[in-house]
Amino acid sequence: MFEKNLLAGKRVLVTGGATGLGKSMGKRFLELGASLYICGRREQVLAEAQAELQKATGGTVKVFSCDVRDNQRVEEMMNTIWQDGPLDTLVNNAAGNFICRTEDLSIGAFEAVIGIVLMGTIHVTMACGKRWLKEGHKASVLNITTTYAESGSPYVLPSAVAKAGVLNMTRSLAVEWGKRGIRFNAIAPGPIPTEGAFSRLMPVKSMEEMAKKRNPLGRFGTHEELADLAAFLISDQSGYINGDQIVMDGGEWLKGASEFSHLGDLLTEEQWQAIKPKKKTGSGS
Ligand code: HXC
Ligand code: NAP
Repeated sequence: MFEKNLLAGKRVLVTGGATGLGKSMGKRFLELGASLYICGRREQVLAEAQAELQKATGGTVKVFSCDVRDNQRVEEMMNTIWQDGPLDTLVNNAAGNFICRTEDLSIGAFEAVIGIVLMGTIHVTMACGKRWLKEGHKASVLNITTTYAESGSPYVLPSAVAKAGVLNMTRSLAVEWGKRGIRFNAIAPGPIPTEGAFSRLMPVKSMEEMAKKRNPLGRFGTHEELADLAAFLISDQSGYINGDQIVMDGGEWLKGASEFSHLGDLLTEEQWQAIKPKKKTGSGS
């Protein structure tokens, strides 16, 4: 889909880049010539991802054991990264989430998820942003949100409020820092199978079938589809896109929001026939 050197010379940090969608995006960036930095909390997982990605692409991957909730660790990571030179792109992908009725959530549960998704994104973005502004370095930030950042969603309230904050930050800083050469965009994916997300959000297999059925395209998104969109958005080819959230969900949220979408599953063929306009008979004279 892209020229091989689309991201040549770009230095990209993907938070949570050792697993799932972060790893798939990182792989695509490497294939397109970027050098990659990834962080996460689990050292073993990071080391395995580093070996796998380098073997698959021949690119350079540096890994950092860093909890994005800890601002001091984030600053230390950034100091180390900046010794190689400034980053060009930040992908805020690290997240935490689980299904739970809101009345059953502890304050600690809110703090855990909001700490990763919202405060983590703020820590990493501020650490990069301050350095970029000081150096006058052009850069871009891609935030991985989700469709309920805009709509809200029951049963995932800590994630919903945190992702809404990240979307708001995307739009706010696109305007505030745009004129200083820093673009901000977001991708709102619908469900894409990963161990991290599906083990927590679709713990019962039947939930997967229900989710597919609900989608206008009748399937989940793929890692390749997300990775290609992300590559475009961090590339210079998308240089005039700033402050946008691109929805990549097969039309799922529109189906949920539109007034009559349920009729497709509800009405039988006979019922559709019964409400069809009847053909007029005779000449009418
Ligand atoms: C209720 C829960 C809970 C659950 C944890 N808690 N899991 N409460 N239901 N299932 C509570 C704990 O009791 C604790 O409360 C507090 O949350 C912190 O839990 P810890 O396990 O100590 O936290 P920590 O080890 O920091 O783990 C963070 C985590 C975990 C978010 C809870 O799930 C995690 O590490 N997730 C990272 C990966 C991930 O979630 N990936 C999926 C992203 S998918 P107390 O009161 O004791 O402090 C995604 C997709 C969105 O975002 C869109 C899909 C379409
Ligand atoms: P995932 O594999 O669980 O990815 C989450 C990553 O974040 C993990 O690598 C995890 O690594 C890291 N992480 C979590 N807490 C962290 C912390 N405190 N500090 C640093 N890293 C941390 O799940 P995924 O499905 O690929 O999700 C990736 C992104 O896509 C998330 O932003 C998610 O909200 C979004 N998304 C996913 C879907 C989907 O259907 N998959 C849909 C919409 C949006 P450690 O545990 O080792 O720290």
